[in-house]
Amino acid sequence: MKTSISSPPIFSLHLLLLLLLLTVSLPSIQCGDLVDQICKQTPFYDLCISTLRSNSKGTESDVKGLASVVADILLANATDTLNYIRAQINQASDPEMERALAYCAELYIPVVKYNLPQAIEALSKGQFEFASDGLSDAAKEADACEKKFSGSMASPLSDRNKLLHSLSDVAVAIVKILLKG
Ligand SMILES: *[C@@H]1O[C@H](CO)[C@@H](O)[C@H](O)[C@H]1NC(C)=O
Repeated sequence: MKTSISSPPIFSLHLLLLLLLLTVSLPSIQCGDLVDQICKQTPFYDLCISTLRSNSKGTESDVKGLASVVADILLANATDTLNYIRAQINQASDPEMERALAYCAELYIPVVKYNLPQAIEALSKGQFEFASDGLSDAAKEADACEKKFSGSMASPLSDRNKLLHSLSDVAVAIVKILLKG
């Protein structure tokens, strides 16, 4: 009998502690949920999560903020790839390889100089249709570049082209959410 009398206060103390814990941890749970919710609507969930988690802005943004984080990383990646292609051109001894690399550089230059910077600006202005077009150009050019390598000439850019295509798809998918909303 004694235990049943003393248990209600202990029970409510636990409840109070639980409520307190929930209140303290709720804001961070909600932030994580947005990234998770958004990434589930993209074709590459894991890449989306790791891209957004690697950026400090990725955890405290709204949907538009998340889209621009991915777009910025996409531009950084495309720029890095263009520099890599230029370095490869300088090292190439096979003229056919050199031609293919030069072709890829020609494809990446407008993406890095115009398409992506313009898409990022459009995104900040709320011009989501235009932003989506510019972001998807990166995937198209990465594919066109990859197709230039065939047969005995293995692509030295496969991993980079693939990552760029996937990042572009993720960025476009997030902008599509904005277009619907
Ligand atoms: C390219 O994207 C990947 C995946 O998000 C990221 O880990 C990497 O840091 C990016 N590279 C550059 C140069 O931005």
